[in-house]
Amino acid sequence: MKVTIADIRQMKRKKEKIPMLTAYDYVTAKMIDEAGVPLILVGDSLGMVILGYESTIPVTMNEMIHHTRAVVRGASNALVVGDMPFMTYHTNMSDALRNGARFIQEGGAQAVKLEGGEVVAETVRRLVDCGIPVMGHIGLTPQSIHQLGGFKVRGKGLDEAKKLLNDARILEQAGAFAVVLECTPAALSGLITQRLAIPTIGIGAGPDCDGQVQVISDLLGLYTEFVPKHAKQYARLAGEIKAAVSSYISEVKSVAFPTAQQSYVMDESLIKQLKSRD
Ligand code: KIV
Repeated sequence: MKVTIADIRQMKRKKEKIPMLTAYDYVTAKMIDEAGVPLILVGDSLGMVILGYESTIPVTMNEMIHHTRAVVRGASNALVVGDMPFMTYHTNMSDALRNGARFIQEGGAQAVKLEGGEVVAETVRRLVDCGIPVMGHIGLTPQSIHQLGGFKVRGKGLDEAKKLLNDARILEQAGAFAVVLECTPAALSGLITQRLAIPTIGIGAGPDCDGQVQVISDLLGLYTEFVPKHAKQYARLAGEIKAAVSSYISEVKSVAFPTAQQSYVMDESLIKQLKSRD
């Protein structure tokens, strides 16, 4: 059964933790869906962990839609959230609505995520009014990395903590069905979680959030250029993949691969006929 935003809200009410993961392609989405993840984010982290950009800023709508379609094909049960890229919801309301609608109509996602608090509240309200469920995202917001001056923990000081608390409330009032808290101190995330009726989904935000989200490449040890403090590697696939490829290279060179087992047979008499015609 397809997970709905009502199911996600219900999980908070039942105090059932909400695991969320990113995915960017059909195969991964299918595996994590079958493993039972209820929420899949097609994050704009796509830019860094799949497309090799230095940040999420160059990611375009077309790239996001292309990958969202692939993930949606693999996600039979999980609710798929498409991440709206940099500046696709700031220029004006009609751009925001058109781009939000593309995720639902062309991408097949069930919801969108956008970064920011009070500053995007009106946009969140309009998207929700138009029937597009929205997940908020506050704390460290990677699309504002140049403004923030780096990937740092947010909300350690009183003023910033108050602002985050207020932003979270405003997103809830604007109709967001959940809010991501990225790199916020655990105690502050716990307080925000208590104060909101909608679920908080943490990444580097401590154990008291209603759910957790991780970038799949961090979790599987696939992206090793930078491993954030908040990530836990449940596997080290980069090493396993390199070892498998090295074995393949040496077996091709030594003609240990392919063997008869990986080859197709043809009737001997046909080969004889072919040879006699030369
Ligand atoms: O793009 C992404 O993967 C995200 C998560 C880190 C929440 O926004």
